[in-house]
Amino acid sequence: MNHEEVKVRRGPRSGLALIVAVHSRALGPAAGGIRLRRYPDWRDGLADALRLSEAMTLKNAAAGLDFGGGKSVIALEPGTSLTPELREAALLDLGEMIDSFGGSYFGGPDVGTGPDDMVVVRRATSRVFCLPAEHGGTGSSSVPTAAGVFAAVRAGARHVFGTADLVGRTVVVSGLGSVGGLVARHVSEAGARVLVSDVDPAKRTGEFEWVEPAKALRTPADILVPAAVGGVLPAELVPELSVPLIVGPANNQLTEDSVAGGLAARGIVWVPDFVASAGGAVYVLLREVEGLSHTAAMSRVESIGDTVSAVLTAARDNGTTPLTEALARASARLTP
Ligand code: PHE
Repeated sequence: MNHEEVKVRRGPRSGLALIVAVHSRALGPAAGGIRLRRYPDWRDGLADALRLSEAMTLKNAAAGLDFGGGKSVIALEPGTSLTPELREAALLDLGEMIDSFGGSYFGGPDVGTGPDDMVVVRRATSRVFCLPAEHGGTGSSSVPTAAGVFAAVRAGARHVFGTADLVGRTVVVSGLGSVGGLVARHVSEAGARVLVSDVDPAKRTGEFEWVEPAKALRTPADILVPAAVGGVLPAELVPELSVPLIVGPANNQLTEDSVAGGLAARGIVWVPDFVASAGGAVYVLLREVEGLSHTAAMSRVESIGDTVSAVLTAARDNGTTPLTEALARASARLTP
């Protein structure tokens, strides 16, 4: 572990395993969402929090934000069913834990939580972002996250295909959560043919063509958008991929950093996840902490496209991988 501070606690109200991981506060207070997910064991939730908080350090640093990286996990273990009462109890328990950081960690929504949940967390701590507008927050971070991903998709397309125009391109969106669903709509409105998949068959609404989750990543396409949970790109999968561009919001897509080299060797352009997914963090931190207007914050979200172009160009010019270049950008700020 190379984290600054990690707290693990069984919630006194909920009885659930709660983890708050602060990876780095080198650039400022840590910020990162609250993930509520089922895990085979609470230790898997701890491992997830450790990886995700480290990714937040890179995300915030590469996006030029003066915030460090952190993440919270509420781990649902097998056999526990999440009633509304249990959810509320867990959010209050977690809010109390967040408060104990005294302002050196701020939470917000992530996979499994949304703005309404933040209203509950707010009862226990003021250190929480993305409350609904009527409660004084900026609401769902999925909207700016998806806008940033769309900017990253266009920049990636310009790099790989010579044009950001998506008309007639085939795009696979793997994972139809709150961000994936919005990205699917953006690329579809831009004229792409969109194929979607999700582990939840209820997401098959007929709005988009459906591909089975097991096949989604191997489906021949122009662009693959990983938009579910992490670890979807292991080394074994690289030879089976049939897509020249991978860019999406899922955090920690590669099972290990070396996969970036395997992708590059096959001529597949992979946009680092912590660059493509920064829109939510950029928007919420600039709006709720720095006090920027909606328009100013959205233009910073759009600038993710410029960062993607810079990273991809540097990788091509230097004969490195996009991951190496994005990590260099982040560490230039983290270790000046
Ligand atoms: N959870 C989102 C992310 O991973 C958005 C978020 C960022 C929420 C920072 C709160 C704070 O980027």
